[in-house]
Amino acid sequence: MSVQRLDKLLSSQIPELSRKDARELIKRGEVSVNGAPAASPVQKVDPERDSVSVGGRELGYKKHLYIMLNKPAGVVCATRDGLSPTVMNLLPPSLRRSGLFPAGRLDKDTTGFVLITDDGALAHRILSPRSHVPKKYEVTLRDPISPDSERRFSEGIVLGGEPTLPAELKKLGERSCELILHEGKYHQIKRMFSALGNEVTALRRVGIAGIKLDPGLEEGQARELTEGELNKLIKG
Ligand code: URA
Repeated sequence: MSVQRLDKLLSSQIPELSRKDARELIKRGEVSVNGAPAASPVQKVDPERDSVSVGGRELGYKKHLYIMLNKPAGVVCATRDGLSPTVMNLLPPSLRRSGLFPAGRLDKDTTGFVLITDDGALAHRILSPRSHVPKKYEVTLRDPISPDSERRFSEGIVLGGEPTLPAELKKLGERSCELILHEGKYHQIKRMFSALGNEVTALRRVGIAGIKLDPGLEEGQARELTEGELNKLIKG
C-alpha cells in the first residue's frame, strides 16, 4: 500500500528536502495533485496512481533506489561510524534519501561494488544465507597461487570447523585470480587463502548476481542500477 501523506512523499522523493521544506512548498502553492493545487500537507496521495508535480514538473516517483557504488579503501560499509567515513558519505546529493543502507559488507580495505538500497526485502533476499547470490572478486596474493587451489576452492575449504560452499577460482596471473563466492562469511576470502598458507594483499569486488561493476565508475563514484541490472538482481 503506497497511499501516504503528501509531505512525507515529497521528502522521500526529493533529495535533501525535509518534511518542513515540503510543507513550505505546498503552502506556497507549488505542488499539485492530478492537476489541482495541493490542499494540505496531510492530503493522502497514492504515488502509483496520482500525478504529483512540483513547480510544474512531474515528481517521477521511485518506490526504491538501487545504487552501485565503487568503494575505495578506507571507507566502511555501514550507515554510521564514529571513526571512519562510510559508504553513505560518498553518495552525491541526488542519490540521497532516508532509509538507504549498504546491502552487504566489504572489509574496510576491500574495494569495488557495493549495492546501496532502501529495499529491505530485496536486500534480505540477497544477503540471506540460503540465497547463494554469486559475488565475483578479483584477488591479488602475496605468493603464487598453488596448482591445487582451483580444486581446493571448488571442494570448499574448512573455516572454523565448517566447509565453505564450493567457490570458483580462475587464475588471472601467477599471484592473481578471479573468485566467485555463493555466500558471505566474515573475512571469507582472506581466511580461505590463509587456510592454504597464502595471504590476500588486495581484494576488489567486481560483480553481484551477474551485474558487473561499471568500469566507468571511478572509486568513490555511484550511480543508479539500470533496469536490466535491476532485473538480474531481482531474478537473483
Ligand atoms: N572476503 C573478505 O575476506 N573480505 C571482503 O571484504 C569480502 C570477502
